[in-house]
Amino acid sequence: MISLILQQSPAWHLGSVMEGFKTIIEPFKIKTVEPIKMTTAEQRKVFLERAHYNTFLLQSDQVAIDLLTDSGTSAMSSDQWAAMMRGDESYAGASSWSKMEDEIKSLTGYAHILPTHQGRAAERILYGYLGGKGRTFISNTHFDTTRANIEFTGAEAIDIPVPEATHILENHAFKGNLDTVKLKKLISEKGAESIGAVILTVTNNSGGGQPVSMANAKEVSEICRSNNVLFILDACRIAENSYFIRLREKGYENKSYRDIASEMFSLADGAIMSLKKDGLVNMGGFLALRDDQLSAACTELLIVTEGYATYGGLSGRDMEAIAVGLKEVFDPDYLHYRIRSTAYLGERLRNMGVPLIWPIGGHAVYVDARSFYSHIPVEQYPGQALVCELYLMGGIRSVEIGSVMFGKYDESHQLIPAPMELVRLAIPRRVYTQSHIEFVLEVFEKLLYGREKVKGFEITFEPRFLRHFMARFRRVG
Ligand code: F0G
Repeated sequence: MISLILQQSPAWHLGSVMEGFKTIIEPFKIKTVEPIKMTTAEQRKVFLERAHYNTFLLQSDQVAIDLLTDSGTSAMSSDQWAAMMRGDESYAGASSWSKMEDEIKSLTGYAHILPTHQGRAAERILYGYLGGKGRTFISNTHFDTTRANIEFTGAEAIDIPVPEATHILENHAFKGNLDTVKLKKLISEKGAESIGAVILTVTNNSGGGQPVSMANAKEVSEICRSNNVLFILDACRIAENSYFIRLREKGYENKSYRDIASEMFSLADGAIMSLKKDGLVNMGGFLALRDDQLSAACTELLIVTEGYATYGGLSGRDMEAIAVGLKEVFDPDYLHYRIRSTAYLGERLRNMGVPLIWPIGGHAVYVDARSFYSHIPVEQYPGQALVCELYLMGGIRSVEIGSVMFGKYDESHQLIPAPMELVRLAIPRRVYTQSHIEFVLEVFEKLLYGREKVKGFEITFEPRFLRHFMARFRRVG
């Protein structure tokens, strides 16, 4: 049960069973359950030490509430499971592929759909082809795998979110927007021919799950078109983004969420989507393109590394679940519950005095660890400290999105910190109920006391790319 502020919400509930009530019930019943193993504080201490204070290195059965990611962690519906039984596992031309392809074509309007096993596989194919030394990619904020796939080719990835994006507490309807003044400047400085692509990430995951407005997408589209620069949408969470557009942008009050998403796709030259988010599945992704030649080149790479063009890295049953999931995600009852339940956690934390990115984004709550642990310098990773405390106190797994994830070194190996030190509490779709969330709130209440005694961390081992996944830590002092 989620208590809600209905005046903030679109009039979806009029005429529904919930009209006149302020409580929203989860719009599903639970048919299958997965037990959660309860651990003791002693056990968690040992588990975390063994994981070198990196929660990615924990076993899932050592975790009570897993808010590490909303990716691939969705609960599927009975319709999705039923569809999976119809999975056609033929190597070529499977009927399951036709269902997935038709659904994506009708949603996006793009001519060419390339299936991949997840989002980063599509990134590797497209940005591997477009990248290379001397090429520049520009985004509101590149997600970590996007940046890694671009930089791996020798190209550079530049983030230009609007300035409001870093004003953590400021209320702004579309903090996910890309700074179009900077975009024009960058294109003219670098030369349009050196730009690999402009990538608009909706919602902006690394920037707090904040939405991008249609007006911003239109402006980016016009700038790209007039400069002959490729415009790609990173559409992982486009249904959640559509919810915010309908709620906050003038002229969209009466449009369906799916139509809003289709309009946004229509502005770009192509899209990459990790279906592990708004596809409501545990595995899957796609690359979609308008251009015949670009698509032909990418299809070659797809076949060499992912799989044949009618399955990518997916089995037939995966493709069946995707075709259904992409319909379900635009259901107004689902989307309303989804966004409001994330906001419920954020609003309650804020009332308690936990500093966080405001307003609350679509898929996660982002705690500002730099001010939560203001005594821990950024070189000692305050975000990592909060991630560890959440686990030790309540078995809650979260992820640092700060200088562990995005920090770099200068020539003298001094840390160049990330712009923000955040801890993300990502909410898996249709998985946890309100009592799980109440528990998380109680854990935070306890963490608020004795904050000044918590110590930071230093890194004892790190790989070259995506260091947060495998890094090892030691407590300072
Ligand atoms: N783009 C965005 C905006 C993402 O959030 C992700 C994944 C990807 C691309 C890559 O997709 O995982 O299917 O390869 N985000 C996950 C997360 C991992 O936890 O936010 P993938």
